[in-house]
Amino acid sequence: MATNKDLTKLPGHVAIIMDGNGRWARLRGLPRVMGHKEGVKAVRSVVRQARELGISVLTLYAFSSENWGRPRDEVNALMDLLYNYLESELDELLGNKIALKAIGEIEKLPDRVRKYLEETIKKTSVNKEMILNLALSYGGRAEIVRAAKVLAERCLRGEICPEDIDEGSFAGCLYTAGLPDPDLIIRTSGEERLSNFLLYQAAYAEIYITPTLWPDFGRDDFMAALYEYQKRERRFGLTAEQIS
Ligand code: FPP
Repeated sequence: MATNKDLTKLPGHVAIIMDGNGRWARLRGLPRVMGHKEGVKAVRSVVRQARELGISVLTLYAFSSENWGRPRDEVNALMDLLYNYLESELDELLGNKIALKAIGEIEKLPDRVRKYLEETIKKTSVNKEMILNLALSYGGRAEIVRAAKVLAERCLRGEICPEDIDEGSFAGCLYTAGLPDPDLIIRTSGEERLSNFLLYQAAYAEIYITPTLWPDFGRDDFMAALYEYQKRERRFGLTAEQIS
């Protein structure tokens, strides 16, 4: 991989759909959980690299609303991995001035995981170099419905009128309030769908799909995604002439 490419045009917010852990394990005749375990190593690597490169926000789709429907053993194993990850990474987050955030129905997480997550968010909240944003028990549709309810309640209380609702106020009621929209969404394992991820926020995101399975996603794969992003012309609905 060439190292002398231009890295001035980096996406500010990269979001990743980490897919393929199960297939990675199956290909080796291992239980699915081993794929998730190996996936944690890829998480560590991508967080470190994003920080080195100066990416401002890295969102990782770690557990979807739908993932609760997986076999109990797998759900428990994922919760344990998340807890262990948070425990082992605290010093790294603090040392590298990374603030942890979470989006999703975190109240549904097991108490021990939720408490540790909240503590880590609090302990790292002063960090300004990068935001590591974990999507946990997250679903894009549920997030949009929740925002609609918040705004409807404000209308009922007379705090706002329906006419006051615009894209800005709506976005302010999403879990991602205050974060920029993703510039680049990476999906591993070759599947070509958003799977209920950042549905509102992805409106103008560039999408990059790689056949690499998540546990194999390494530094070169991340660089390949970033270089591909640099080649894209982002028009946001305008013409090429207007953009230039
Ligand atoms: C999708 O692969 C991956 C998940 C549902 C979980 C992702 C979790 C991790 C990478 C580890 C824990 C996360 C953190 C942040 C510590 P899949 O199981 O759907 O794979 P398959 O499509 O090949 O079956």
